[in-house]
Amino acid sequence: MNFDSISQEPLLEVKFFLEQARDQKLQDWNGMTVSTVDEKQRPSSRVVLLKKFTDDGLFFYTNYESKKGKDISKNKNVSINFWWRELQVQIRINGSISEASRLESEEYFNSRPKGSRISAIVSKQSEEIESFESFQKTVQDATEALKDQKITLPDHCGMYKIIPEQIEIWKEGEFRRHERTLFKLESKKWIKSYLSP
Ligand SMILES: Cc1cc2nc3c(=O)[nH]c(=O)nc-3n(C[C@H](O)[C@H](O)[C@H](O)COP(=O)(O)O)c2cc1C
Repeated sequence: MNFDSISQEPLLEVKFFLEQARDQKLQDWNGMTVSTVDEKQRPSSRVVLLKKFTDDGLFFYTNYESKKGKDISKNKNVSINFWWRELQVQIRINGSISEASRLESEEYFNSRPKGSRISAIVSKQSEEIESFESFQKTVQDATEALKDQKITLPDHCGMYKIIPEQIEIWKEGEFRRHERTLFKLESKKWIKSYLSP
């Protein structure tokens, strides 16, 4: 992942820890929990992988018709959370989410191995299926049928972009004296404050 285009202060802090996690080769260093809420304000969370991070936002790839996709279509407020045990750091980012451009999504999709692209085409993510075996069979049939075809990004898949509005960096301290720094975006400026642990 390339973090070159990051310049805003709190994003630089996030970048700093992501780079540390990456350079220390932490398992799934770019994993983040994304929480959405449904139309009845019931929250749900799941882990996804951060695929791109720029001044424009944080990007992950998924199925737009999944449970999270349905939640997002009703409510653009999301919360994401990173935690790296080895770095003793937790980061919470609250913000709004929207679909990334088709071009950005295609760029990522086209970089994926063919097997992953076929899975994206056949998987109706979050829908009930008869059995895991029946899904495997659907994948097998599609792999055969698409053998000689170019596999392009289906409409129901793509990247989401999260634009941060609040960023909290939590650093573990001795005797629970954790350091918590909160950045809030107000009139296009990041305002910094400190929170009690
Ligand atoms: C380490 C890890 C990484 C994952 N990465 C992704 C991802 O990048 N995109 C995705 O759609 N699902 C990813 N998943 C699966 C999601 O956690 C989740 O099961 C799936 O997206 C369906 O979520 P939903 O039903 O809430 O929409 C990942 C799961 C794990 C454990």
